[in-house]
Amino acid sequence: MAASLNKVGVVGLGTMGAGIAEVLARSGLDVIGVEVGDEALKRGRGHLENSTGRAVKRGKLSAEEQQAILDRITLSTSFGALSDCDLVIEAVPEQLQLKRRVFEQLDEVCRADAVLATNTSSLSVTEIAVSTNRPEQVVGVHFFNPAPVMKLVEIIHSVLTRPEALSVVQGLVERLGKVGVTVGDRAGFIANRLLFGYLNQAAAMYDAGHASREDIDAAMKATGLPMGPLTLMDLIGLDVSLEVCEAIYRETRDRRHAPAPILRQMVTAGLLGRKTGRGFYSYD
Ligand code: CAA
Repeated sequence: MAASLNKVGVVGLGTMGAGIAEVLARSGLDVIGVEVGDEALKRGRGHLENSTGRAVKRGKLSAEEQQAILDRITLSTSFGALSDCDLVIEAVPEQLQLKRRVFEQLDEVCRADAVLATNTSSLSVTEIAVSTNRPEQVVGVHFFNPAPVMKLVEIIHSVLTRPEALSVVQGLVERLGKVGVTVGDRAGFIANRLLFGYLNQAAAMYDAGHASREDIDAAMKATGLPMGPLTLMDLIGLDVSLEVCEAIYRETRDRRHAPAPILRQMVTAGLLGRKTGRGFYSYD
């Protein structure tokens, strides 16, 4: 097992993966970011430049610091680039078969002592782990959106995870200045298990004409939350929200998590929230 972390890989540079790569590079780690093709890599580079660029505009980073962060991230379309990483964090879309395929490839190219982590919000870490020949070195590491801002990181162990692999990830989260909590492989882990009953109920209330979307959001924002529930689901993505509700409902049969019909309809219609320009609200 790698004693100290120097080089960390990130597979998938969408919203979450790019945010995670930025957080890692900000802490001084060398990062290898891998995407499937040139277009996706270009989008990933765009996420990284925009996010750090915004920090420069707000006076939180100097242009030199931004450049140093970007220089620490090497981008590649080849899994082979991950061969000497101490830890690899997978952040590809939430589809079990896709994640399992990525882990099979990681298992082939990564060093035998490397820890493999999955950033999943709704899938079973155990089911992902068993697609490798080293399930004892597979850990869940669940960042929240937006990753550069949100403090919480859930660290998930399966029944097979070695304590040493878990402590590599716990040490990393501490180094990143985040708040790490450790949890077993249960649908929704801690935060989503508590959050999504509320979010799902907000969607159902909106669907039933209980109040306008603006008033539902204004009510909860005025209680001190940073965002109302419908705005938050648009940020998270309605597809991810639906998957999280379904995963918790499948495991618990708790009716609070039976997805509100409108959530499923909006996902079918391609209204996924901010990332597609329209969800409960429209975005330019
Ligand atoms: N990337 C990087 N930085 C970002 C950012 C992004 N996408 N969005 C906002 N920020 C930064 C801003 O640069 C700003 O930084 P400084 O204070 O250092 O200047 C700070 O965050 C505040 O941003 P804004 O002033 O633009 O806007 P805001 O005050 O309205 O905050 C927010 C925006 C941080 C998103 C805030 O509304 C918030 O915390 N919302 C709740 C988000 C939340 O609950 N996320 C968890 C969702 S659940 C989940 O992710 C789990 C899952 O599995 C689905």
